[in-house]
Amino acid sequence: MANEISIHNRIDSARKETGDLPARPADEGQIAAMFDRVAPRYDFLNALLSLKQDHRWRNHLVSLVPYKPAGALLDVATGTGDVVFTAMSRRTEYTNFTGVDISGEMLTLAGAKAGERNLDAKVNFSQMSAEKLDFPDGSFDCVTISFGLRNVVDKEAALKEFSRVLKPKGTLLIMEFFKPRSNLMAKAFDLYFHHILPLIAGLFSDRAAYTYLPRSVQAFYNPNQLRGALYRSGFLVNQEISFLFGGCKIIQARRLG
Ligand SMILES: C[S@@+](CC[C@H](N)C(=O)[O-])C[C@H]1O[C@@H](n2cnc3c(N)ncnc32)[C@H](O)[C@@H]1O
Repeated sequence: MANEISIHNRIDSARKETGDLPARPADEGQIAAMFDRVAPRYDFLNALLSLKQDHRWRNHLVSLVPYKPAGALLDVATGTGDVVFTAMSRRTEYTNFTGVDISGEMLTLAGAKAGERNLDAKVNFSQMSAEKLDFPDGSFDCVTISFGLRNVVDKEAALKEFSRVLKPKGTLLIMEFFKPRSNLMAKAFDLYFHHILPLIAGLFSDRAAYTYLPRSVQAFYNPNQLRGALYRSGFLVNQEISFLFGGCKIIQARRLG
């Protein structure tokens, strides 16, 4: 695995100064730089801004990971690794846990957490893009991506990569924010995401990153479009679970063939 990193070996070269990011990400280097900047406060702000609901949602996501003795799980856009760590504590029959991300700073924190928990020998964190996964075909039983797909520049290229690295009939779990369907909830969502969240986040972290968040949700697929993109990439959707009146969803899909 060419791009393997350790906490002492960060790849900083892709960093760029960013201003306001466009809602639809156009440049992976800018996205990586933005997440590098928010990384130190990322976990704290996630818990604060979601009133700790993010833990509940991640637990739910992991509960949908299929039972597979000696299974292999890949978490894409792993950030500070919380999906991987949750999976490691709950899916103990799995023997291979891997997390990948484009942000070196996020991976540094994920590596540090693995060290604190004495898990470094059991998990592998690598710097790579969802659009170009450096794994052989059919490597994994389950691929997860939580609040990551929205940030990927070429989403369909990423979905095709997930299909390629999954074993036939393997499971893909996507967790993502969507605009709620009901007008009232969409208004409440807009108020929180566009006004309250950037204000609170701006006190602790990079405000621009948290104004990008609601704009990126708006520019992202709606659930129907995502289903279409999944189908074109070789997946069939099995189930969808909604939180926040449809503002956050988990989509479970199975690789065809
Ligand atoms: C909102 S965070 C989510 C982190 C984590 N999955 C979670 O649930 O907390 C989004 C992550 O996606 C990563 N990311 C964005 N584009 C990516 C890409 N093309 N390939 C891999 N990771 C990417 C970012 O670096 C960032 O760590």
